[in-house]
Amino acid sequence: MMEKGNGAERAKIETIREVFQYLRQFKGRTFVIKIDFTVIDDPHFPVFITDVARLHESGIRIVLVPGAKERIDQILGVYSIQDRIIRGVRATSAEAMPFIMMAAFDVANRLMTSLSGSDINAVIGNWIRARGMGVVDGVDFESAGIVERVLTDRLRAVMDNGFIPILPCIGWNALGRPYNLPSNELAAITASRLGAEKLFFITAGPGFSVPEYQVPDGVPLSPSGGISNFSLPDLERFFALNPGREELDLLDKARRACEAGVERVHILDGRVDGALLKEIFSNLGSGTMVYSNRYSGIRPMRRNETIDVLRVMKPFVERGILLPRTEETLAESHGDFIVFEVDDAIHASAALHRYPDGVGEIAAVAVDEQYSHLGVGPRLIGYLCDRARRMGLSRVFVLTTQTADWFLKQGFEEADLSSLPEKKRAAYDLSRRSRILIKNLS
Ligand SMILES: CC(C)(COP(=O)(O)OP(=O)(O)OC[C@H]1O[C@@H](n2cnc3c(N)ncnc32)[C@H](O)[C@@H]1OP(=O)(O)O)[C@@H](O)C(=O)NCCC(=O)NCCS
Repeated sequence: MMEKGNGAERAKIETIREVFQYLRQFKGRTFVIKIDFTVIDDPHFPVFITDVARLHESGIRIVLVPGAKERIDQILGVYSIQDRIIRGVRATSAEAMPFIMMAAFDVANRLMTSLSGSDINAVIGNWIRARGMGVVDGVDFESAGIVERVLTDRLRAVMDNGFIPILPCIGWNALGRPYNLPSNELAAITASRLGAEKLFFITAGPGFSVPEYQVPDGVPLSPSGGISNFSLPDLERFFALNPGREELDLLDKARRACEAGVERVHILDGRVDGALLKEIFSNLGSGTMVYSNRYSGIRPMRRNETIDVLRVMKPFVERGILLPRTEETLAESHGDFIVFEVDDAIHASAALHRYPDGVGEIAAVAVDEQYSHLGVGPRLIGYLCDRARRMGLSRVFVLTTQTADWFLKQGFEEADLSSLPEKKRAAYDLSRRSRILIKNLS
């Protein structure tokens, strides 16, 4: 008979089993970790970075984004260079830019050096394409930039080769001009473009707790009064109850990352021993988590959005992957269409058309290039299958010339002409030779 051991031993073994389970779940997944400079500058940082190194060794793909705000302040102070912070953004003068780059690379360098102590290879790189913010409401932000593109393929190649990429808060335009980027935003955008499993904001702050903030009913609190987690609707209610608080910008970035496909964003105090490990390897968590539901960002198309949807479909129509549609045909069946929206812009669309006898057709699935590979397509299909079930349909089919393999991955199966509803069979264009795929919804 198996000996059970005493209570403390059993608890330890259960913890080890729990860790194995999480390791299996996260192996090969990407975590983007933004670390505030105050944490990097803290005497306990070597302990924190050793934990990061161990995560990397266990097969989790890590991307590090060091914050440089306080280091930039220090360096500008030393050289007596004035700058202006306007609505939380540093309006970066040409004079300040070389010093900002010095600070950004100094902080990135510190991270790389501390990883060397754990025998981990890291690379600091220029994977961010940026452009200037320009003049906003009469304020010239000069060398302050916004992220235009993350060179995800190149970042992935670096991780495939076993390195940890470190992204300083600098981006470059196509001509090589550098721009100063807000690192929280940089981390949030990088996480969404990489399709990261998790995004961490490692801060040295006290977190969000009562009575500092008005907390909506039903939001879970830790025993110390800290807010454990927010669903996106809870977060909206929280913002409404706590207007005009600039420090909530971090939660806003977390919300945007979730809306762009990152399922979980964690805000942790990096000075607390083991905060990162507790968050990843236990179901207790330690800071504040913002999580999205699987279908956030997806909603029915509005009547006035036909042009936006045609724009998303256009490149695929031009390549003969999708059938052409007009504004009129789209308007006629606008109730069938759904869209995926981020920051007021539509980046993907799809439709479910109903046929008699409990059958539906999934059509016009299109995800724009900028948001491809992030799981948006599978979420659109999941949303439409749920919609079909609620409509009482028992199966959905799709006709496709070039995307059959992808639909097979989404649980569809090959079928023939006889399985189509009569009306569709009659309209089937033999010359197009589309493949027919079906998914049972039971
Ligand atoms: C196919 C499509 C909907 C996928 O959307 P997505 O949000 O990028 O989906 P995923 O997140 O699952 O990523 C796509 C994955 O499928 C693969 N894929 C893309 N197109 C594929 C195709 N035609 N056949 C097989 N696999 C394909 C990609 O390589 C990627 O794999 P990876 O993540 O291992 O790199 C999108 O690429 C698209 O809009 N294609 C053009 C329109 C189309 O074919 N519509 C379907 C006919 S109705």
